[in-house]
Amino acid sequence: MCGIVGYIGRREATPLLMQGLKRLEYRGYDSFGIATMGSDINLFKKRGRISDSESDAVALAGYVGIGHTRWATHGEPSDINSHPHTDCSGRIALVHNGVIENYAELKKQLVGRGHRFASETDTEVIAHLIEEHYNGDLREAVEKTLPLLKGSYALLVIAADDQRIIAARDCSPLVLGIGDGELFAASDMMPLLEHTERIVFMEDGDIAEITAGEVAIYCDGARVERPVELVNWCVEDVRKGGFAHYMQKEIFEQPQAFYETIKAGLDDHVADMIKNASEITLVACGTSYHTALIFKYLAESLCNIPIRVEVGSEFKYYPPPLKGLVIAVSQSGETADTLAALKMAKVHGCSTLAITNVQGSTVTRIADRTLLMRAGPEIGVAATKSYTAQLAALMELLDARCEGAFADVLSHAHLAIGEVLLRDIQQAVALCKGAEHVFFVGRGPFYPVSMEGALKMKEISYIHAEGYAAGELKHGPFALLTEQTPVIAVCPPGSTYGVMVSNIKEMKARRAPIIALGTDGDKELEEIVDVFIPLPDTHPLVQVLTASVVLQLLSYHTACALQRDVDKPRNLAKSVTVE
Ligand code: F6R
Repeated sequence: MCGIVGYIGRREATPLLMQGLKRLEYRGYDSFGIATMGSDINLFKKRGRISDSESDAVALAGYVGIGHTRWATHGEPSDINSHPHTDCSGRIALVHNGVIENYAELKKQLVGRGHRFASETDTEVIAHLIEEHYNGDLREAVEKTLPLLKGSYALLVIAADDQRIIAARDCSPLVLGIGDGELFAASDMMPLLEHTERIVFMEDGDIAEITAGEVAIYCDGARVERPVELVNWCVEDVRKGGFAHYMQKEIFEQPQAFYETIKAGLDDHVADMIKNASEITLVACGTSYHTALIFKYLAESLCNIPIRVEVGSEFKYYPPPLKGLVIAVSQSGETADTLAALKMAKVHGCSTLAITNVQGSTVTRIADRTLLMRAGPEIGVAATKSYTAQLAALMELLDARCEGAFADVLSHAHLAIGEVLLRDIQQAVALCKGAEHVFFVGRGPFYPVSMEGALKMKEISYIHAEGYAAGELKHGPFALLTEQTPVIAVCPPGSTYGVMVSNIKEMKARRAPIIALGTDGDKELEEIVDVFIPLPDTHPLVQVLTASVVLQLLSYHTACALQRDVDKPRNLAKSVTVE
């Protein structure tokens, strides 16, 4: 969703801001803009993507500037609604992530007092309120404005002839990068990685006064110190490195993501939390919800531990009885629904654990403890290596709870993931790319694996796909099966193998072409299906991983065959920061 960047230093701000915005493109956006500070405010804003416009020719002068990628919420995507927004005089400009819930009421009052509005956005009220409080001290004006706002914000504000950026955060992420005689601000670390590894994570309620040489942070009117942390991501991690798409690169990075996460292990506190938990609830959205469901199946079947899994967006409004340990699973650590659920769990006195890929993200600030995945930055909107690293983190928890029963399996699992990366799946792609509907089916943990396969397929190829428990298809969806409706069945050996084979035969009898993922050498299965994709003969924990990776590849190559924008699928945002 929206992304913000800011720069103050000795270099021209415009190229740095544009570069920063490109690094934020992965979050999803529909328009963008920048403002620089001189004796006036210079402004450039545009609907569309940065690469679609004459953005290379943007040359606003100034050593201080702010920029924004907008994902429309209030008002359609347009040049006017793009940020930065200015006050009536055009001498104050700001960019904003978040939502101002009471903007309609504030706007009415401001219009009544003579302010002229240019856009339909909620954000513009902030510029006019700051204008009313501005008497030459921008920090003071921002401080007086913030208590009037209801909602969430990460803000960067500049004023003509004022050599500062004022930054503020409440419920939307904001990080500062400390350079050599220059400072950066952004909604996440991506734009900062090529300039510095020294990062300050602002906290809710913080207001930062940023000059070229220094940053001073205030909270509740008093100066506070926030630690400077070193990030372990580097700029190479955010480059495509010869791959056609970030998603392809990230799929291929999965053996490493899994291995690194397992290698990092658990700290003693986290290990104790999982060992001693009387009740365990996981809360997550989207792909992370699927990893949580896989964990539930594995924990219940392999270790006899009951697990509850909840969708983040339902949790806040229909909370389950809350007791014991609540684990929030979120790649970005910024998903609003997951954060809201976690806050509610804390109110109910639960102990809380965050599993996330992003150091310093909001979820790490809320949870009692964090288990950091080691996937490295994920740029493709569709989660791939973060999914695998989440499974690594969850499998580590399982292993700790079961006294190291899976340690050996986990230490070698990355090899099997590497093995399936080169599977030939072209026949399967050929069947899927012409289809309007595709079903993914499996049983046990392979049911959520199928749900994830379907989610990947719909989000990047735009083919309608459903993930089903294999036995459920005959309770309704069979009506949709035709020779044009491929079914992808995950059919490993084990207690469900026989019934899966029966299910496959039933689907074949309805003329659906079947693509089966089964164990290498399974001739029985190979003979009854249209396309057989072999998986290595491994432990069930590893089969979950290898099957998932093959399904990612199937979606990826299908989307490429259909010439979709694989890394930035339409309408989607990487980090969903609104409820
Ligand atoms: C799908 C995808 C999303 C996210 C979901 C939660 O490929 O990426 O479904 O999984 O938006 O995001 P996080 O894990 O950041 O909380």
